[in-house]
Amino acid sequence: MFYIEKSEQLADKVHQMWVRAPHVAHHALAGQFVIFRIDEKGERIPLTISAVDGDAIRVIFMAIGKTTTHLASLKSGDSIRDVAGPLGKPSEMGTYGTCVLVGGGVGSANLPIIARAAKAAGNRVIGIIGARNASLIIVENEMRSVCDEFFLATDDGSRGFHGFAADVLKQVMAKERVDRVWIIGPAIMMKVTSEATRAAGIRTLVSLNPIMVDGTGMCGSCRVMVDGMTKFACVDGPEFDAHKVDFNVLMQRLRMYQPEEKESLERYQAHVCACRGGEHHG
Ligand SMILES: Cc1cc2nc3c(=O)[nH]c(=O)nc-3n(C[C@H](O)[C@H](O)[C@H](O)COP(=O)(O)OP(=O)(O)OC[C@H]3O[C@@H](n4cnc5c(N)ncnc54)[C@H](O)[C@@H]3O)c2cc1C
Ligand code: FES
Repeated sequence: MFYIEKSEQLADKVHQMWVRAPHVAHHALAGQFVIFRIDEKGERIPLTISAVDGDAIRVIFMAIGKTTTHLASLKSGDSIRDVAGPLGKPSEMGTYGTCVLVGGGVGSANLPIIARAAKAAGNRVIGIIGARNASLIIVENEMRSVCDEFFLATDDGSRGFHGFAADVLKQVMAKERVDRVWIIGPAIMMKVTSEATRAAGIRTLVSLNPIMVDGTGMCGSCRVMVDGMTKFACVDGPEFDAHKVDFNVLMQRLRMYQPEEKESLERYQAHVCACRGGEHHG
């Protein structure tokens, strides 16, 4: 069992959880992930390791379906049945010069650990976080404290630049030489934003989030197309060269189980309501 040291809500549907998992914490590197199974009957869900502190790891997740909604309901002092990891290849890291890290929505959660690794490797680090509106901005203070320069963008202009993170990236590129870019967010955001660096030939890395089951390269559910070849995101990634990823295939595969996922969430919510009703009347 893995003890939850702290659990808190950061924004609408976005939660942060510190879980005591020494075997993961002692080996985790930027870019890697874990697979959680809440209880014996639970589904396995992959979540990025967004920070490490001593024996604990932090995950930041959005409660969008059955398992993430269940996870969000757990409190400090509760526990998780299985935590497998660290999984996947760590972020490609070296001394490049100026690195720009771009986050979209909950994907921004993965930036601070990469920013720290890039700083430690001797790079100048520029952070850009994009969100739909000001209330959805996460990890801002962490990014401000580690980055040499930091920018915010909101779709509705409620904070920072009024527009997309991709526009801010273009402004930075127009002002100075950029040597390496990471973009982490929804598939469509990574697809569109990485076009900004293609013509300039700037190596750009994205972290892909296909459906994963075993996380060890055995089941094939996480296959993605990169440079015309099939890759398994759990063992060959999740980080890949953005300019070689077929995002259309990724987005198509992500939509594949939507009806089943909706039904599963509805069944879970009905079950929670029935239990609460039982408490009331019991
Ligand atoms: C390497 C990796 C790292 C991730 N890191 C984070 C993170 O740090 N924070 C975060 O909020 N989310 C992260 N995700 C996505 C997260 O795993 C899904 O949101 C979660 O599995 C949804 O489960 P659910 O039962 O709540 O929702 P469901 O209703 O089952 O699914 C909702 C959506 O989540 C995705 N999804 C569902 N099952 C899986 C699965 N087994 N594997 C991957 N995606 C799935 C699909 O896009 C689906 O449409 C990551 C995914 C991958 C592959
Ligand atoms: S999750 Fe099964 S092969 Fe990657």
